[in-house]
Amino acid sequence: MRDIMKVLIKKKLDAALDICAFELAEPHGQPLPAFSAGAHIDVHVGDGLVRQYSLCNHPEERDRYLIGVLKDPASRGGSVAMHALKEGDMLEISEPRNHFPLQAGATHSVLLAGGIGITPILCMAERLAHIGASFELHYCTRSPERTAFQDRLAATGLAACARVYHDSVPDQGKLDLAAVLAQPAAGKHLYVCGPAGFIDAVLAAAKTAGWADDQVHREYFGNVIQATDADGAFQVKLASTGQSIAVAADQSIVEALEAAGIDVPVSCEQGVCGTCLTRVLEGEPDHRDMYLTDDERAANDQMLPCCSRSKSAVLVLDL
Ligand code: FES
Repeated sequence: MRDIMKVLIKKKLDAALDICAFELAEPHGQPLPAFSAGAHIDVHVGDGLVRQYSLCNHPEERDRYLIGVLKDPASRGGSVAMHALKEGDMLEISEPRNHFPLQAGATHSVLLAGGIGITPILCMAERLAHIGASFELHYCTRSPERTAFQDRLAATGLAACARVYHDSVPDQGKLDLAAVLAQPAAGKHLYVCGPAGFIDAVLAAAKTAGWADDQVHREYFGNVIQATDADGAFQVKLASTGQSIAVAADQSIVEALEAAGIDVPVSCEQGVCGTCLTRVLEGEPDHRDMYLTDDERAANDQMLPCCSRSKSAVLVLDL
């Protein structure tokens, strides 16, 4: 588990309908650890809930972290608990970590955001504008009132490169993914963040248009772990001791290990954050996460045991 630090909620603002922005600061005014565009922090929301939020302020700022939180009544309680917080409250967070960095030296960047997925994308756009890099930003929301950070999108340096689309205002035009992604080229990079359905649609369109996997970068906010009737029991063997642990069909590997007294650090428990990443020494994982790339999955030498399972009867883990 990453180091945890306490921060003060210095400001809480309404960024849009059901979206709050929180400005977090070190309680004694000390500088916060540096971050780069696309980074996120884990926020310990209480009752053991940990959620990942992308940082959406300028990466050169060291006096604050800004996060945007969508209130999602369908969530497991993290966003509702976050919205109940107020200015002056303290929060426990991790240091920033970046699984969604900008690629250095890109000739052009296509940034696509769906809903609250604007948070890392906005940070990336401002960074690209700041260094004078070529980019375009497409931001899809349900309606104008659910569109966060409109003032920043309208700012000089961004406005000319950013386009916003609302489901509720079809006359303004819809995002034409095929057209936006029509011309993959060496040095061009595509970044997408938003709900799983939005990301999947973008990834499918990028594949159809011929984008190479290593030029397409995505960040999921949450992963709905699908249990299927085909889920079976299997054994996990610990390389360090040779101990075998049975994983029942309705149990995750992490749960089975925990029941046997073996702690694997976890955070999101949704296959999104990478905290539980574990090396696989033998056997074939059944990957259910949103963290590993297709190439990393195909290599079969690491897995996220909070959500992934096994295709083979036995998995030997580097534990
Ligand atoms: S705990 Fe986040 S990926 Fe497993």
